[in-house]
Amino acid sequence: MNELNKGPLAGPCRVVVLISGSGSNLQALLDDAAGISSEYSIEAVISNKADAFGLTRARKAGVETQVLSHRDYGDRESFDQALIESIDAYQPDLVILAGFMRILTPGFVRHYSGRLLNIHPSLLPKYQGLHTHQRALDAGDSEHGVTVHFVTEELDGGPAIIQASVPVLADDTAETLAQRVQVQEHKIYPLAARWFAQGRLRMVGDRTELNGELLPRNGHRYHGAEDPVAE
Ligand code: GAR
Repeated sequence: MNELNKGPLAGPCRVVVLISGSGSNLQALLDDAAGISSEYSIEAVISNKADAFGLTRARKAGVETQVLSHRDYGDRESFDQALIESIDAYQPDLVILAGFMRILTPGFVRHYSGRLLNIHPSLLPKYQGLHTHQRALDAGDSEHGVTVHFVTEELDGGPAIIQASVPVLADDTAETLAQRVQVQEHKIYPLAARWFAQGRLRMVGDRTELNGELLPRNGHRYHGAEDPVAE
């Protein structure tokens, strides 16, 4: 067993979510965590931006919030060290990046190795980095989508867990495409959090294991409500 996900946890899986903005993915996670069958609890939401709307969502859900501005720190290392201290005060089993728009230091990523998830709006390994929707349009792709993955030191490069795709339509703009991708984001992020909380998910080297079996390198491809692996 990987030391980082030791299988079923004694109590509900403790989660800390990091955000920078609107927090629509955070909302999907808050809603899922509030469900009666949920096996994870969101202990805190931390933002590097004081005006992030996600903070309002968290407060409405009765979840503790903290703002830690990167502008108050001289370099990435000292910001990330302070972030680690804030996060670890909640003793999380899992840390979820939900639109947290800061590049994290290798030290931070190693500290949470195997229990740090990110969501990236592309079918990784395509379009790491920014402006993913416009890049998919510019490339003339017929499909686009989103990936939830474990975070490693390689930006947007860690082992994929789950992907969902949407067709690219002839009249799509980056905005309309982003909206359709986000609908999928809000389905697959809670699913990945549940899998982790149930002890079914772990990072094994550069791959992801679900239910004791290695997933394809692109992760599990989500097929909607009828997805046999999803529930
Ligand atoms: C999401 O679409 C997420 O995929 C993206 O930021 C958005 C945050 O939205 N993440 C990245 O681009 C990370 N590289 P939200 O604040 O409404 O959840």
